[in-house]
Amino acid sequence: MYKITLIPGDGIGPEIIETAKNVIDATGVVIEWDMVNAGLDVYAKEGILIPQKVYDSLEKNRVALKGPITTPIGQGFQSINVLLRKKYDLFANIRPVKSIPGIRVPFSNIDLVIFRENTEDLYIGIEKMISPGIAEAAKRITEKGSRRIIQAAFDYAKANHKSKVAVVHKANIMKLTDGLFLACARDIAKAYPEIQLQEVIVDNMCMQLVMNPAQFEVIATTNLYGDILSDLCAGLVGGLGLVPGANIGNSMAIFEAVHGSAPDIAGKNAANPTAVILSGAMMLEHLGEKDSADLIYLAVKEIIQQGEHITKDLGGNATTTEMSRAIIEKILTL
Ligand code: NAI
Ligand code: MG
Repeated sequence: MYKITLIPGDGIGPEIIETAKNVIDATGVVIEWDMVNAGLDVYAKEGILIPQKVYDSLEKNRVALKGPITTPIGQGFQSINVLLRKKYDLFANIRPVKSIPGIRVPFSNIDLVIFRENTEDLYIGIEKMISPGIAEAAKRITEKGSRRIIQAAFDYAKANHKSKVAVVHKANIMKLTDGLFLACARDIAKAYPEIQLQEVIVDNMCMQLVMNPAQFEVIATTNLYGDILSDLCAGLVGGLGLVPGANIGNSMAIFEAVHGSAPDIAGKNAANPTAVILSGAMMLEHLGEKDSADLIYLAVKEIIQQGEHITKDLGGNATTTEMSRAIIEKILTL
C-alpha cells in the first residue's frame, strides 16, 4: 500500500483530481490518499496559501498528485507552484508529449519528452523597479542546475534508446547565462557518443516544432523556454487537456498536468481530465507499478480513439465525469 498526498488545487483542479483518483483506484493499486489543499480557495477560507499540513504531508509521503493552483497576476502573490518546486528542489520538470490517435491535429507522429529546468532562470523571482518606468528581472543559471537537468535528459534518452537530445537556448544573445547552459550540454554530451546533441536557438525551435515536430525526441531547456515550449507542444497534440507532467527531485516527486486552473471552464464539469489522469499514470510508473500505468495509457488511448466519450476541447460533448467514467469502465474490461 502506498500513501500519497493529494492536492486538489483551484479552478478545475478539484474536478479533475477527483476523477484521476478514481481512475488510479480502478487499476487495483492500493493507495491511501492523504488529501490536503493549498491555493486561493484555501486562502479565502483559512487566510493562508499553503497550510502547514500540506508541507507535513509532502514531507511524510514524498509523492504527490497535485491539481493546478491559480497565481493572480500582480504583486503580493508568489506562485505556490514555483515555491514548492524550489523548496523541495524538484529540479526536473518532465513532460511527455505524444500524439494520440483519433484527435484531429496536423501531425500524428509526435513522441517527445521535455526536460524543463525547474528551480532557476527568470523564475527566481528577483525583480525590481530601477526607477519609475524601468523594471528589471534577474536571470540566474548555474552550472549545477544546468548539469543535473541536462544529465537527466541524456540518461532518459539512453535508457529509452532515443538517438538525440535537443538543447534549447538563446546563447547568441544571453552569452553568460544561456551560454553556460549550452556549455554544460556540450560537455555532458561527450559522455554519450551514441546520442546526437541538437543545438537549437529557442525562436527557431518554435518554428521547427510547428513545421516538423517529429524530428525531436528529447528536449532539454531552461525554465522559461521549457514553460513556453510545453504549452506549444501541448497545442501540437490537441491541447493542454492532454499533457501530463512530473516535478522530480532527489527525495520527492510531485505529479501534475502542464495546464493551469482554467478559470474559464471551472465548475462546469467540462475540463478534460486526461492530463491529470496521465500524470497519475506517470506517478504509478515512478512507484514501480508499470502494469497499472500501462492499463491507464491504453484505456485513455482507446476512449479517445473511439471518440464517444470525449470532452469539448477534443471535439466531443462528454463531461469530465462521463469521460473519466468511460476510462474507468475500459480499465475494468482490460
Ligand atoms: P490554463 O492552462 O489554466 O488555461 C489555458 C486554456 O486552456 C484555457 O482556455 C483553458 O480553458 C484551457 N484548458 C486548460 N486545461 C484544460 C483542460 N484540462 N481541459 C480543457 N481545457 C483546458 O492557463 P491560464 O489561463 O493561463 O492560467 C490560469 C491560472 O492557472 C493562472 O493563475 C496560472 O498562474 C495558473 N497555472 C497554474 C499551473 C500549475 O498549478 N501548475 C500551471 C499553469 C498555470
Ligand atoms: Mg506553464
